[in-house]
Amino acid sequence: MEQSRRGFMGKVFGAVAGVGAVGALYAMKKSWDPLPSVKAAGFTTIDLSAAEPNKLMVEKWRGKPIFVLKKTPEMVAKQSAEQTARDIVVNGDSFLICIGLCTHLGCIPAYREAKLDFKCACHGGEFDSSGIETKAPPPSPMVIPPFNVKGNTVVLGEEGEAYRKMKEAGVLA
Ligand code: FES
Repeated sequence: MEQSRRGFMGKVFGAVAGVGAVGALYAMKKSWDPLPSVKAAGFTTIDLSAAEPNKLMVEKWRGKPIFVLKKTPEMVAKQSAEQTARDIVVNGDSFLICIGLCTHLGCIPAYREAKLDFKCACHGGEFDSSGIETKAPPPSPMVIPPFNVKGNTVVLGEEGEAYRKMKEAGVLA
């Protein structure tokens, strides 16, 4: 009787331990898997068909703000070669698409439509409408992320032809 009771208790204990082990394995697997947000964050497709000239759109890619600014024909006509080299051309329209973080200490600059520039409130840095720093302390232009133009969209996180050309021309350095 005692023997069979022990046997029964052993089975119960074994079953409980088994469930516990499966649970622990499941928990471990869950912690190895990337979070859903990380999985989805690798690539971001931005549809540019709704973009309005000189209106800043702010998107998100890999947890960072992305500035999308469609330039007016007047803005494009007045640009220097250095500014034009940073333009992303989609269906004949020129865009600034950059990571919207100040290259000084990472604040998010504000776009000033009337002045066609960005102002960083943290320490007064400024950038032109191509994301190039025009007033210290930012040491460099806002960063253009890897992109691939597909029809009327850009896929961020993918290195397309135009991005590679910018890289080769030293525009991204
Ligand atoms: S963080 Fe932008 S000027 Fe300092």
